[in-house]
This record gives sequence, structure tokens and C-alpha cells, in this order.
Amino acid sequence: MMRIGVLGTGNMADALATHWVRAGHEVIIGGRDPHRAELLATRTGGAKHAGLRAAAESAQEVVLAALPFGAGVEVVRDLRAALEGKVLLDCSNPVGQGFRLLTEGGPSAARQLAAAAPGAHVVKAFNLCHEDVWRMRPPVFDGRPLAVPVCGDDGTALARVRELVRDVGCEPVAGGGLDRAALLEATAALFIGLWVGEGVDAQAIAPPLAYAAGPGHQDAEGSTGAFPA
Ligand SMILES: NC(=O)c1ccc[n+]([C@@H]2O[C@H](COP(=O)([O-])OP(=O)(O)OC[C@H]3O[C@@H](n4cnc5c(N)ncnc54)[C@H](OP(=O)(O)O)[C@@H]3O)[C@@H](O)[C@H]2O)c1
Repeated sequence: MMRIGVLGTGNMADALATHWVRAGHEVIIGGRDPHRAELLATRTGGAKHAGLRAAAESAQEVVLAALPFGAGVEVVRDLRAALEGKVLLDCSNPVGQGFRLLTEGGPSAARQLAAAAPGAHVVKAFNLCHEDVWRMRPPVFDGRPLAVPVCGDDGTALARVRELVRDVGCEPVAGGGLDRAALLEATAALFIGLWVGEGVDAQAIAPPLAYAAGPGHQDAEGSTGAFPA
């Protein structure tokens, strides 16, 4: 059981906190609007509620930043002392008008959170799907649980987030270090552009693993070797 602080009372806070309460974690919803925090805590069926600072302070292992990019960096900077030594879970998508990546040419949103709270262990996850996918119980498609890439640099922090991914009913996959969080954010911008802008099924853009290097590269088990450098 973890004691998890949630910063924000919006859609992602709602979707993820509800799963984690059901999984038996102690969850404290922190909002700038006490009424919204109380309403969400009630809706989750067992979370507590508090202000943003109190939620960050009373969290023991993990704090989810369920805040818009930009505001999130400001809030986290303000709370950096309370986040010291904790996992700071970043689900943000710095995606703006025209599905543009707002961080283009600069550090990723995850890196900006890490700079704002240098004592926290930032992990990026849960940014690639819509809130209503995260609300599914569980998010399983064609019998296969949704795979959730997780990026971070601290082994203990990654293990905690992998557990939280499983508590949502998904399968965690190693996305690499926090330097690769920029790729997850860019992938979200691409996916949202394909889904919303073009009406294209983003799932269709990659071949199955057995064909990742083309049909001539399957071994006896049907899996591929490593890509050439
Ligand atoms: N929605 C999705 O499908 C989805 C999917 C993947 C990732 N994401 C990412 O997840 C993050 C949260 O998205 P969301 O859909 O949950 O957003 P949301 O429903 O708009 O909720 C945002 C929350 O942030 C709070 N907030 C905004 N500005 C603030 C500030 N300056 N100080 C303190 N609190 C502030 C809001 O408080 P008030 O209620 O008081 O305004 C609200 O509780 C975003 O970065 C988004 O890109 C969203």
C-alpha cells in the first residue's frame, strides 16, 4: 500500500485516483479549490482531500502531477520541499494549437518538472491515452492489456510506478531514462494529431513485433533480433 498525493482535481486525477483507491492505496486529492477536491475525493470512493501543499506533504511514496503543462511546473516549483525524495509522476502533454509540441527546441515537460523539484524522482507515464481510456476497468483491447511506457532514472521510483500501472489494469513497459520522456511527449502530439486531426487509427502505424524489421527477419520464435545501430 502506498500513500499517494494527487495534485489536481480534473479528469486525469479522477481517472487514476479512482483505480488506486480501489487497489487499496491511501490517496489524498489536493486541489486549489477545496470544494472540487472534496467532490473528487468522495467520487473515488475513499480518497481524502486537502490543499495542494498538504497533499504533497502527506504523500509518502508518490505524488501525481495531474495539472496542465506550465501551471504544473509552477505548482511543483512551489512545492519542491514537500516533494523531496518522493516519486513525482508526470502525465502531462505539452501539446498546443495545431497539435504542436509546446516544448519544441527545449527541455521536455518531464525535465522541466525535474528542474523545478530537483529532489524528486520524476517518472513519465500515462500521457499517451485519453482520460476515458484510463477510466476503463480495465483498459484491455482485443484481449490485450494496454501497454504503458514508463520513463525515469530511479529504479525504486520506476518499480512504484510499474505497480501503479498494473493497478490500473495495464502492463508497464520500459521506456528508458527520463531523457526519453521527450519522445513520449512527441508521440502524444503525433497520436493526438492522427486521432483528432486526421481520424487515423494510430495503432495501425506500427507493424507487429515479429515484423518490426520486415518479414525476412523473423527467427524461429517469430521475434526479431535487435535493430542495427
Ligand atoms: N484529459 C486527458 O485525456 C489527458 C490524457 C493524458 C494526459 N493528460 C494530461 O494530464 C494533465 C491533466 O489533464 P486533465 O485533463 O486532468 O486536466 P483538467 O481536467 O483541466 O484538470 C486540470 C487540473 O489542474 C488544476 N490547475 C490548473 N491550473 C492550475 C494552477 N495554476 N494551480 C493549481 N492548479 C491548477 C485545475 O484546477 P481547477 O479545477 O481549480 O481549475 C484542475 O484541477 C495535463 O497535463 C494533460 O495534458 C490529459
